[in-house]
Amino acid sequence: MPDTYENRPVPELFSWEFATDPYPAYAWLREHAPVRRTRLPSGVEAWLVTRYGDARQALADARLSKDSAHHAGSDHAKGKTGIPGERKAELMTHLLNIDPPDHTRLRRLVSKAFTPRRVAVFAPRVQELTDRLIDGFAARGEADLIHDFAFPLPIYAICDLLGVPAEDQDDFRDWAGMMIRHGGGPRGGVARSVKRMRGYLAELIHRKRANPGDDLISDLIRSSDHGEHLTENEAAAMAFIILFAGFETTVNLIGNGMYTLMRNPEQRARLQDSLAAGETGLLATGVEELLRYDGPVELATWRYATEPLTLGGQRVEAGDAVLVVLAAADRDPERFAEPDVLDLARRDNQHLGYGHGIHYCLGAPLARVEGQTALATLLTRLPDVRLAEDPADLRWRGGLIMRGLRTLPVQFTPLSE
Ligand code: HEM
Repeated sequence: MPDTYENRPVPELFSWEFATDPYPAYAWLREHAPVRRTRLPSGVEAWLVTRYGDARQALADARLSKDSAHHAGSDHAKGKTGIPGERKAELMTHLLNIDPPDHTRLRRLVSKAFTPRRVAVFAPRVQELTDRLIDGFAARGEADLIHDFAFPLPIYAICDLLGVPAEDQDDFRDWAGMMIRHGGGPRGGVARSVKRMRGYLAELIHRKRANPGDDLISDLIRSSDHGEHLTENEAAAMAFIILFAGFETTVNLIGNGMYTLMRNPEQRARLQDSLAAGETGLLATGVEELLRYDGPVELATWRYATEPLTLGGQRVEAGDAVLVVLAAADRDPERFAEPDVLDLARRDNQHLGYGHGIHYCLGAPLARVEGQTALATLLTRLPDVRLAEDPADLRWRGGLIMRGLRTLPVQFTPLSE
């Protein structure tokens, strides 16, 4: 028999061990089967793309559509979105599920509202929210950094940014909690939460149209009133995707980031020293490195071939599904020196953690502000923060697209109130 990867033991994907540490399996795939057809736990088959060069090419390839109508086995739509009944429904016609020219039009509209300036003006509010959440547990000397901190921070931040009034934000917290907890599990609660969120957003958009404020939804409505057209459904879907794409990702950036720092004491000490000296350079490169090393988005969202194409020497047929494994590409030794080593000062670091091409993360500037503010404030206010559990006992969520911890119990010297 020829010595091909088919003859060798293939690492088990999507097992419990894999959820804890997928990187050895990804190294195997990169080396032996860089574009590999794989049956997913849902039963759907997709090509997994694991090398950096192929991943970057796939993310920018116009023959790979985001519209699941191109998928030969499109009855898998439930598994894809994780949100039953919403595939063709209003909230799902958002940026991550559409192609040009609709994508171009909607992305242009939202880019006018979601500007780097809006994020810069918003940064002090992120600092306030961060401090308020830390105040909530600082005297205890222990916390679950996911539940007490990483989870609420992005919800409140995005609600503020969108213009959701303070008194309604806890509803969002509950709906989002349902979606993150049960995203891959029982469906009923998730469907109900999405339905409530859809109803709420539709009403909020009506209210903002009548009574605009200084917020993202009002800006979206304003920009659509000036020439380009944005339907109410599109506005609601836009608000939804901003929340949906900006929530669990940020939870995991903070969770995975703090976990990695606590497991790399020498790198962490360097970062704390630099923060104590009032420097921000290592913080900025450090957050990028944490995204590369163990980022929140393990696999980019689904893509479907509209015509036959070749990826990494492998023929992909029209109708096939393609999943780009960002976590594998970002550890490719062909692209990154010593990819399995955490180097917070890494300079040559064009990671794919925010994607690439026309769907490149719209919220990257906000994610950077949130990530940098959260990590710097935690490390400064709780300088001896440490893991309260053996890393082997920590549970990872094990969803398909995202990578993140269920809980992150820590201890630290309590702060007096
Ligand atoms: C798209 C990562 C935070 C909004 C994406 C994509 C990635 C990504 C990989 C592309 C997916 C693909 O091509 O399949 C991240 C990471 C984040 C983060 C790692 C945090 C650390 C945010 C935040 C927001 C946001 C805070 C908004 C508040 C979006 C939107 C898209 C997107 C709207 C779709 C863009 C399009 O299709 O044109 N993100 N994201 N993200 N992200 Fe983020």
